[in-house]
Amino acid sequence: MSHEDFPTENPAVVTCGLPYANGDLHVGHLRTYVGGDVFARSLRKLGQQTAFVSGSDMHGTPVAVNAAKEGVTPEEFALDWHEKYEATFPKFNVEFDNYGHTHDETNTQLTQDIVRTLDENGHVYEDEVMVGYDPEADQWLPDRYVEGKCPYCGAHARGDECDEGCQRHLEPGEIEDPVSTLTGNTAEYRERTHKFFRVSEFQEYLQEFIDRLEGTSNARNQPREWIEGELQDWCITRDMDWGIDYPDDDASEESDGSLSPSDTDDLVLYVWVDAPIEYISSTKQYTERVGAETYDWEQTWKESGEIVHIIGRDIIQHHTVFWPAMLKGADYNEPRAVMASGFVTLGGKGFSTSRNRAVWADEYLDEGFHPDLLRYYIATNGGFQQDVDFSWEKFRDRVNSELVGTVGNYLYRSLLFAYRNYEGTPDAPLSDEVRERIEEAQSEFGEAVNDYNVRKAGTAAVRLAKFGNEFIQRNEPWKLTDENPEEAAQVIRDCVQIAKAIAVLFEPIAPEKCQRLWRGLNEDGHVRDVGIDAALDDPAASFDEPTELFEKIEDERVEELNEKLEARTAEATADSEDGADSADGEETETDDSAESSDGDVTAELEPLTEERIGFDDFQALDLRVGEILAAEGIEGADKLAKLTVDIGFEERQIVAGIKQLHDLDALVGERIVVVANLEKAELFGVESNGMLLAAGDQADILTTHGDAEPGTKIQ
Ligand code: MSP
Ligand code: ZN
Repeated sequence: MSHEDFPTENPAVVTCGLPYANGDLHVGHLRTYVGGDVFARSLRKLGQQTAFVSGSDMHGTPVAVNAAKEGVTPEEFALDWHEKYEATFPKFNVEFDNYGHTHDETNTQLTQDIVRTLDENGHVYEDEVMVGYDPEADQWLPDRYVEGKCPYCGAHARGDECDEGCQRHLEPGEIEDPVSTLTGNTAEYRERTHKFFRVSEFQEYLQEFIDRLEGTSNARNQPREWIEGELQDWCITRDMDWGIDYPDDDASEESDGSLSPSDTDDLVLYVWVDAPIEYISSTKQYTERVGAETYDWEQTWKESGEIVHIIGRDIIQHHTVFWPAMLKGADYNEPRAVMASGFVTLGGKGFSTSRNRAVWADEYLDEGFHPDLLRYYIATNGGFQQDVDFSWEKFRDRVNSELVGTVGNYLYRSLLFAYRNYEGTPDAPLSDEVRERIEEAQSEFGEAVNDYNVRKAGTAAVRLAKFGNEFIQRNEPWKLTDENPEEAAQVIRDCVQIAKAIAVLFEPIAPEKCQRLWRGLNEDGHVRDVGIDAALDDPAASFDEPTELFEKIEDERVEELNEKLEARTAEATADSEDGADSADGEETETDDSAESSDGDVTAELEPLTEERIGFDDFQALDLRVGEILAAEGIEGADKLAKLTVDIGFEERQIVAGIKQLHDLDALVGERIVVVANLEKAELFGVESNGMLLAAGDQADILTTHGDAEPGTKIQ
């Protein structure tokens, strides 16, 4: 990839996938917003000029459907949610430089401008299309107003996406066996004239773009199949009132008559046209507020900017196919990186807004937990691409062992010792050992940011705290104060420096806690505004008695929270078995019903081998922890997939018969077990350098239970 490392001379913009102004935010959504906030803060720490923007996604059928249910206008309905989100994000220390919404003036104007440009540049045409229609309600059925079967994978699909199956975007008319969600009647397909954006024209461009694209590997791998196959044009208008009007007037004057106002009068733009444009509009509003000398949106979006999109994995296609084609067609810059997070699930199933199967953002705060704890958990529990099952136990474990046990414990014991013996930082130079260790943490942080590895950037400070604990333990300053005061002073000076470095490096994850630490160290200003170099600046000579930064979460709390959650999940599951409606939220249900429990299972098991082997024979197997970096199907082979696996020392290409048995994208980030010293083999013309372990016909892949790093020997 050809991009220069961060920090660059160009302004950067970090954007977060816009939340639909349609219902409460849950912990799943927060993965996008916390991820974005951590990344934006981390870039700033490296000295990168960065704007951090998002906004509410006001349009689209889910908003219209839900507003109608409540008997209010879509605008009132969406604005209500918008205001709520605007108030919620800061409570999680997610601090956007600008948070707009897609229905505001800036976005309406800019969207119409961009569509006009696309049209002028010859990228828009008119065509007949079959659109769902409900004869009883006498109404067109755009997007979510129709449900049916996905033509690609057969899963139940809603409106414009196959959200329970292959995750594809679906064009109007594509859903099979359509049913109207208004009346439950079978929908008719009727012919209509709509506007189309020629995405197919950008195929060659997109193939090159995807190779340049940085970010998480799923954002490059998932769209490859689409970009290399036949690219579909996208219908960009809808038969609805709620949305941004198709800009016919001006366009029809300038174009060669290809736009006929009479047809487009009652058409609005498809929600996915104006939604990503809000990324630009929101940046523009930021510039309007602070002035172009401080931040110039036009430079970022039209000249030379570093554009980084942070989203969940369900909307990769929109951000790596449709959106870059739109930017290119309208003469804007392309994204530098797309970071697509895995999903947060509950008991292995997707969150469901309509079924109240979720951990809500407000609920978390109402329980009295500090936002920085959740930020830490979300940002560092598993790789960014990995799906994460939310659990209060795991949350408690990470908080208690890492935040309280490692970071909090280090800070409290070292700073208390410093305060009691020196009322601050003793007068001694920093040792080479500690300077080097802090420099190592700084480069670890910098590299992690450049690798778009949020987890690693977040844990650099935790590892430094771990070193701090070990350093104190080894040097035993409490013995030295009498025996060797000079050495004691040296050790404690080192310790205070480590504490200061933690405040600096941990700020992107835990901004509020780190600011408290910063003030506790008697530092001025805001730790948010200092660069990573400040980790090695001299600490203040005096400071007050420290207080504990983190509090332990008691087991009883977890039990209580689990009971609540279990009751709710059980209720939601019962509801879904009744076939409850699901017209609003997103839900990606993973099928966990494949197990059959009847019959004697052992009858089907392969008999145990009688012959025993010696321990040496076992040791001849070099089994290692590997992390899947990429996974793609091998073209032409039904069952084979090609995996790129990090085994600590090197990356291996491994071929495995799992293509149809797993969602390959979801495997990225998984830690697996690899036979590293198996003879190389060639399968379907592709070299396989190792083997992964999996159980049974369904290839249930063996994974690690804890956090063992890639390359760790398995014995
Ligand atoms: N409005 C669109 C995005 C438009 S971007 C131009 C949308 N909205 S959403 O409300 O459904 O999701 C908002 C963000 O949260 C998206 O980045 C989405 O991927 C993410 N997530 C929603 N549910 C999630 C989980 N359960 N887990 C992880 N991320 C999730 O999509
Ligand atoms: Zn599908």
